[in-house]
Amino acid sequence: MSDNILTKLEDGIFYVTINRLDKKNAITNEMYLELIDAVNEYEANDDARVLLLTGDKMCFTAGNDMVGFLENPPVDDNSESPTFLRTLSLAKKPLLAAVNGPAVGIGTTMLMHFDLVYAGESAKFNMPFCNLGICPEGGTTLLLPQVIGHKKACELIMFGEVFDSQTAKECGFINDFFSDDEYLDKIIAKAKKLARQPASSIRLTKAMLKKNHAPAMEDTLYYEGVEIRKALKTPESREAMSAFTEKRRPDFSQFN
Ligand code: COA
Repeated sequence: MSDNILTKLEDGIFYVTINRLDKKNAITNEMYLELIDAVNEYEANDDARVLLLTGDKMCFTAGNDMVGFLENPPVDDNSESPTFLRTLSLAKKPLLAAVNGPAVGIGTTMLMHFDLVYAGESAKFNMPFCNLGICPEGGTTLLLPQVIGHKKACELIMFGEVFDSQTAKECGFINDFFSDDEYLDKIIAKAKKLARQPASSIRLTKAMLKKNHAPAMEDTLYYEGVEIRKALKTPESREAMSAFTEKRRPDFSQFN
């Protein structure tokens, strides 16, 4: 593991921390591979009863590394980011996330594969897919309308607006949020409580809750993957990504 993804096992909790603060925890392909390894290690270790994913208290993650999207976009379903999302969606043991600060793009969509999501009051969720000339990924088009309804899903994705912890809680996207000072302690307490529950019962419950959606999820991940790979090649998305790395506003006026 590099220092960009940190893991430790303590009191039955398998902590995974995204730690690339100079780039706002943007996730590179190498980091996706490390995250996949971390989830697999958690799943295989009987002493690990809850996975708790965190970023920094100031930033969960700025999402996919934009330079990576420009230089090394996903080529198929087995590329790093789709494999990470599939690994999360297939995890059999409970996944818990603690979010504060920006959670952008995959930083928000990955949360839909977590069983419990708690946040600090300064969390800022954002799915700027349309703003970037691309489309939703990671099972979003199946899970988001289920959780928050079609209209709210359209609002959040088509406008790509940032939404805060209060809104996220009100629309059922997260379980709860706490003050910035307390959120991590409170969430660790939740993780400890879950780790004390009978592990087999928790695993069975998760399997039962997800059973009916599993085939649809597989189809959706595949379909979204095909579409986002096409979208990443369009001039609009190349312009949006280049504008970000060149620190300027995108100019979409030349495209119809
Ligand atoms: N990929 C690569 N680098 C990123 C990044 C990303 N997704 N997000 C931030 N960075 C880098 C910036 O380029 C900057 O690098 P530099 O110091 O070398 O110039 C550094 O991280 C700090 O980012 P900055 O934008 O100055 O921080 P901020 O606190 O003002 O804003 C965010 C933080 C997360 C709100 C903002 O960086 C952002 O919106 N990032 C883009 C997120 C995005 O659209 N992700 C979706 C990808 S599909």
